[in-house]
Amino acid sequence: MTNPGVLDLSAMKKRAKVQFTILIVEDNPTDVELMLHALEEADLKPLGGEFEMEVRATAEGALALLKERPVDLVLTDMMLPAMDGLDLVSRIQTIDPNLPVLVVTRMNAVSMAVDAMRRGAFDYVLKPVNAKDLGMRLHRAIRISEILRRHAVYEQQDRQQVEANSLVGVSASFDRIMQHIQEAARVHSTVLITGETGTGKGMIARAIHQQSPERDRPFQVIDCTTVPEGMMESELFGHVRGAFTGAIADKPGLIELANGGSVFLDEIGELPLLLQAKLLRVLEDNEVRPVGGTRVRRVDMRFIAATNKDLEESVRAGTFRRDLYYRLAVLSIPVPPLCHRREDIPVIARHLLLRLGREMGRSHYHFDEAALEVLSSYAWPGNGRELRNLVERVVMLAPTDTITAQDVRALLPREAAKDLTPHDPNLCALPYAEAKERAIEEFTTTYLRTKLAQCDGVITKAAESSGIPRQHFSLLMKRFLGSSGSEDI
Ligand SMILES: Nc1ncnc2c1ncn2[C@@H]1O[C@H](COP(=O)(O)OP(=O)(O)OP(=O)(O)O)[C@@H](O)[C@H]1O
Ligand SMILES: [Mg+2]
Repeated sequence: MTNPGVLDLSAMKKRAKVQFTILIVEDNPTDVELMLHALEEADLKPLGGEFEMEVRATAEGALALLKERPVDLVLTDMMLPAMDGLDLVSRIQTIDPNLPVLVVTRMNAVSMAVDAMRRGAFDYVLKPVNAKDLGMRLHRAIRISEILRRHAVYEQQDRQQVEANSLVGVSASFDRIMQHIQEAARVHSTVLITGETGTGKGMIARAIHQQSPERDRPFQVIDCTTVPEGMMESELFGHVRGAFTGAIADKPGLIELANGGSVFLDEIGELPLLLQAKLLRVLEDNEVRPVGGTRVRRVDMRFIAATNKDLEESVRAGTFRRDLYYRLAVLSIPVPPLCHRREDIPVIARHLLLRLGREMGRSHYHFDEAALEVLSSYAWPGNGRELRNLVERVVMLAPTDTITAQDVRALLPREAAKDLTPHDPNLCALPYAEAKERAIEEFTTTYLRTKLAQCDGVITKAAESSGIPRQHFSLLMKRFLGSSGSEDI
């Protein structure tokens, strides 16, 4: 019996080539004879397989068989000795909702068959059984159940995909991002996601679409850096036949193809000014005008844009339209770089290790504490993308399933790795906790001194630039610099 959660299509196909198994549940030997005869007569060839029949006289016997071997279809009588046909249908539904059950009934008990269908039976067959009618119904049931099974497999793969692509994090910034996503998914307004490369902007855009009521509609990605400039207008807005050489037929644009769903305009900062004007019109009027066309087409969709550029700066520089910027940024999601939310680094690293490890058959791999610390202290200029690349390589190269600080350091850029080694070689002679304490002390002292020097000794300014409250900064000064920190120095 196939477990509904674990469907193996290839196994199904293999079986289908060899034989289909039909389980007949009938306690009356004459009816069994008639049924077998009808099945022999019925033209089952279009199903393309050999047929094997199993017969059981009770519902309990049928359920026992279903536990033992795969069955493709069940034909059951309604009147059975202990558990009746109706209950059998319900039980089969809980075991495998995609296994087609056909109930066999007499004309005067059709209402029972209808009940059975309410409980999940696929169809009913009238007694005395007619071979042609039975063949037609069997054929239909098996085809449809195969489609349902395939659909269940895709759904399961989809769920796994969503899970694999899920965003993880524990920082307050990450919580804010998740709140923004929920908010953006609820409303229909345009969203602008900004952040450095690899911070997860693409994943966030997808998450908004997936959490929106339009999740089953298309999610169309348009990467403004990869579409050649000369083709961008026609790619985005479509063209009509004869609009330019080579336009041999009308072609809808990517925007139109996302109708009813979401368009994700990635790297919007790269969109040429001319197209910015055209895009603004789409956003304001919900209409697209294909290249060479005179008629506009109405569209209705959510626009999500992302950029790693400072668009306000581009607006000032005159390379990005101010009106488009305001139109896009109705809802803004700023995504801080990983180095500003270091708590997220070990969480993302573990998540990626589990996911990539699973793909490579190494799901038991794990980071030890020191490895996570090395990861957390690196600057990650390429953010999540760089972290993912490192995890990918570390899984391939790690000699054992425990990934150590050394394994990680070996893959970090040399400069960074050097930074992470304690400056004082004597530190390594100390026990870990003590060495760490000493390193923190050294680091904090240098940090505070440098910050104060940069801010001309003004504590308020230095604290602000360090991103910590003034009081906290003063306490650190007291502890590490021995200064009172009560006045600006
Ligand atoms: N919070 C997170 N949780 C899980 N994975 C993450 C997270 N942030 C980033 N990643 C990882 O980083 C990778 C890059 O994410 P994504 O492609 O969405 O970034 P991006 O901001 O669109 O980057 P780019 O600007 O380079 O296009 C993802 O494939 C994922 O592996
Ligand atoms: Mg991206």
